[in-house]
Amino acid sequence: MAALKILVIPGSVRTGSYNAQLAAAAIKELVLADVDATLISLGDYPLPIYDGDLEVNSGAPKAAVDLKNMIGAHHGVFIVSPEYNSSVPPLLKNAIDWVTRVRERGEPLGQVFRERAFAIGAASNGKFGGVRVLMALRQILMLGCGATVVPKQVALSRAAEAFDDMGALKDPNDADLLRGAMRQLIDVAQRMM
Ligand code: FNR
Repeated sequence: MAALKILVIPGSVRTGSYNAQLAAAAIKELVLADVDATLISLGDYPLPIYDGDLEVNSGAPKAAVDLKNMIGAHHGVFIVSPEYNSSVPPLLKNAIDWVTRVRERGEPLGQVFRERAFAIGAASNGKFGGVRVLMALRQILMLGCGATVVPKQVALSRAAEAFDDMGALKDPNDADLLRGAMRQLIDVAQRMM
């Protein structure tokens, strides 16, 4: 069987982003599990705010096609998102919206979301760990995109204090939460291969 490939997408491009740190910790966890893991930055996929006229006149931007193809080259995806006003930040929502509009080779819209497994995580310096963005993101992916999103998810609170100098999660409970979600993602992604 081909090596399992998992893509990790942080929903923040901020310097020092807690979510990017959680994404990097996830990559280490996936590599330890013998997964071919890839970390990307949405900063490498610059997209205008979705506009139906733009789509009609110019089609989906190349960055949306590239991001869709990057997702399509992996068996599973871990999205790690900040919480903005209890929901999904525009950077991430806009990227998801554009990817759902990419139609290539006559495939149905949004097919790339339906063919692979997803897991979700959030890091926040607040005490709730972004649990509300996880609900919003799960709704977008499952109801909006028809994706399979594994039940286990990561809500990392007090994120400013959560990582050691090596980027590892200090609290064993947080590390267990991440490991459990990644194992479930691997398991479901393997079954969907
Ligand atoms: C936030 N932040 C925030 N945090 C939270 O736990 N719940 C929330 O509802 C919000 N709302 C919110 C709105 C806006 C507009 C901003 C800019 C920020 C704080 C946010 O979680 C914090 O900035 C994180 O550090 C962002 O994630 P990264 O960039 O560190 O990954």
